[in-house]
Amino acid sequence: MRILGIETSCDETAAAVVEDGKKLLSNVVATSMELHAAYGGVVPEIAARSHIEFINPVIEQALHDADCSWDDIDGIAVTYGAGLGGSLLVGVLAARTLSIIKQKPLYAINHVEGHVYANFLTETAPLLASTYQMPSAPPAFPVLALIVSGGHTQLVLFRDHFDFVLLGQTHDDAIGEAFDKVAKVIGLPYPGGPSIASAAKTGNPDAYQFPKAKTNLVNKRLEELRSARPHQGEMPLNYDFSFSGPKTAVLRAAQKICGKSHDFPSSQLAELLSAAQKADIAASFQRVAVETVVDKAVLAFQEFNPSSLVIAGGVAANQELRKQMSDRIPLPVQYADIKLCTDNGAMIATLGCYKAMNNQPTADPYSLEIQPNLSM
Ligand code: KG4
Ligand code: ZN
Repeated sequence: MRILGIETSCDETAAAVVEDGKKLLSNVVATSMELHAAYGGVVPEIAARSHIEFINPVIEQALHDADCSWDDIDGIAVTYGAGLGGSLLVGVLAARTLSIIKQKPLYAINHVEGHVYANFLTETAPLLASTYQMPSAPPAFPVLALIVSGGHTQLVLFRDHFDFVLLGQTHDDAIGEAFDKVAKVIGLPYPGGPSIASAAKTGNPDAYQFPKAKTNLVNKRLEELRSARPHQGEMPLNYDFSFSGPKTAVLRAAQKICGKSHDFPSSQLAELLSAAQKADIAASFQRVAVETVVDKAVLAFQEFNPSSLVIAGGVAANQELRKQMSDRIPLPVQYADIKLCTDNGAMIATLGCYKAMNNQPTADPYSLEIQPNLSM
């Protein structure tokens, strides 16, 4: 079973071929990130235009690298949401067209669910062996998944393939988005996650005590789940997150250090901060942001006793997150290769394989629509 995966939900044009949901045959990613860096964030129109430019060569390259002709491909999987409308359209239209012309079944993939499936890849084609470090086995169900990216922050319990419950999610900014915004305030380059992580290396994580936001909305799904099973020990009211508070606290701290009032333009603060002050802010923010998600993951681990834990999405590349998680969760957490944590076609192809192998419904290539606000 070989599936071609296509991913264009944000600023990466990506395609990959995966065999049987476990073996990576190719993984091609073209990014327009450099074009967005000048603006400090993704500009949707620029992203969509680059996808149009890259989509055909990226797909051709993915087939070529996998040493596959169309005859070797059993289906096409494509991200249809969530993401930027103009970006999603390019991938979905390419996949629909190819599905019709090449007569291949089409699988519509939820981007966030796809991130989790990057963790199911355990092998590579010989040529890729030195490029990717794969875990030795796929995660065992039930899987607790912490999905942390530029657009999402969610805790999801997968009881099996296609049988999952959303335990909690962010009420406002996603964790990666908060990294990106904090980086902008202290003048570190986009994307902010890797910049903050690198500046934090020389900073003091206890220099500032940014608050951890409390979320106290009642979560119906969680209540239903709890009423169906006995539980004991400490349980949070919910597994939701919020990052707008800590992000604003960073802005206030920067204003205070610089002796400026709240109406001072935030874009001018960075030039008044020293490298040491930036490193301290980066390290303190990273500690709190990571603790926020790890605290809830630990409580969910205690309540649901999963057999494995996966961390998925771009922020899963963060070493401090990996460290705190392995220090506090008594399970050997296996990680996808860092190159498979940020957006890629391999994760989409992998979930496509599982859909195909489990006879999940296919999408109609004549009518599949994008869903920019798709949720789990
Ligand atoms: O999954 P992804 O590539 O795209 C989305 O679906 O959003 O995630 C991108 C996000 C960005 O916010 C980026 O700053 C963050 O992941 N990121 C990191 C790191 N590498 C990427 N955040 C923290 N530490 C990192 N090392
Ligand atoms: Zn993503």
